[in-house]
Amino acid sequence: MSEVQVVGPGDWRVWRELRLAALAEAPGVFSAKLSEWTGPGDTETRWRAWLTEIPFTVIVWWQGIPAGMAGAFCPAADRVELVAMWVAPVARGHGVGDAVVEAVVRWAGDRRVGLVVNRDNRPAIRLYERHGFADTDLPTDHVGEKRMLRPHDGTRCATGVCARHGRPDTTGDHSLAPGFTGPR
Ligand SMILES: CC(C)(COP(=O)(O)OP(=O)(O)OC[C@H]1O[C@@H](n2cnc3c(N)ncnc32)[C@H](O)[C@@H]1OP(=O)(O)O)[C@@H](O)C(=O)NCCC(=O)NCCS
Repeated sequence: MSEVQVVGPGDWRVWRELRLAALAEAPGVFSAKLSEWTGPGDTETRWRAWLTEIPFTVIVWWQGIPAGMAGAFCPAADRVELVAMWVAPVARGHGVGDAVVEAVVRWAGDRRVGLVVNRDNRPAIRLYERHGFADTDLPTDHVGEKRMLRPHDGTRCATGVCARHGRPDTTGDHSLAPGFTGPR
């Protein structure tokens, strides 16, 4: 049984615990490095800032422990980027990843959802494909990665402003910014 919790700056302690575990356990899949978030980089201010700047962050509790996580932000009004996706090894294969992706997709509404994944990360790719993500040939920052995209029905975000992020879409450009990946 899993439970989804949307977290904010006040939840920085549990977010920190999960994020440090993720960076230690899966160092090759995130652009952030454990060394950047430990020692002098490990401050309450910084964790709170992450949870403030990333407009949607979820934790999934599984059997009473925080076991899954992801963040999402809006690089454009009609687009959401899924980042920092991780499930604790003990909880893998039990639908925690599904719950995390479903929460982000629900928050995205009629916006497209994009992400960057290592081409050899089969468990993650299978999870994303199951939720409607498909390969693109859009560029990524690093060799060995690919960008996947979950299309929507073509309807733009009603307000033209990304909810909670408050960034108006003034460009009229609804394509993916080349090379854009944001924090992973
Ligand atoms: C990718 C990840 C989020 C999937 O989480 P999950 O909750 O296990 O997702 P699923 O239950 O859909 O399982 C995904 C696949 O892993 C397999 N799997 C099952 N148990 C597993 C286990 N104990 N360990 C590893 N993989 C397992 C599943 O069978 C499934 O493959 P299938 O679709 O062929 O059946 C998780 O493996 C993870 O956090 N990996 C490290 C971080 C990472 O890669 N993040 C994504 C960055 S883009």
